[in-house]
Amino acid sequence: MKATNSLGDDIEVERAAYDAYLELKDDLAKDGVFIDLDSARRSIAAQQDIVVRFTEKYGEDYVKRYVAVPGYSEHHTGLALDLYLNIDGEDVYLNEDMVQHPEIWAKIHAKLADHGFILRYLEGKEDITGYSYEPWHIRYVGDVSVAKEIMEKGITLEEYLGKLPTTDVAPPEG
Ligand code: DAL
Ligand code: ZN
Repeated sequence: MKATNSLGDDIEVERAAYDAYLELKDDLAKDGVFIDLDSARRSIAAQQDIVVRFTEKYGEDYVKRYVAVPGYSEHHTGLALDLYLNIDGEDVYLNEDMVQHPEIWAKIHAKLADHGFILRYLEGKEDITGYSYEPWHIRYVGDVSVAKEIMEKGITLEEYLGKLPTTDVAPPEG
């Protein structure tokens, strides 16, 4: 489905994820925390545009750490959402500005699981996810009890699914 954010951008997103996002947004607004949707489903071409734009702006190393290779982003599913913040009436959407507000992200992350979302790219789990910490990138998993288990354990989706990197694991014998 299509939605529009406060900046007037068209957002394409899975309906179930969007409905859950609206509940999360309302829930947070009650606590004076205001979020909006920067991006949800992205085509492979849109992901490629981000690679180009971010390479120009932040360089190749940053892109490796923060932007999935086109075709391999979970944004292609429409179930991954990038949030931005509205603080004192001002939209805050640049990555480097958003990371300045850990206390606001903590409030957001505390409510994700109640609405079926998890934080996808955790601090300290870069080796497992392959990406740097992204406080804004949330993933709709649908089932609230699964989301709660993942968030309470502080694990990644890879760990939950048992898909840890296998590079250090010896091949099976025989
Ligand atoms: N920022 C995440 C890793 C993506 O580009 O899908
Ligand atoms: Zn994202």
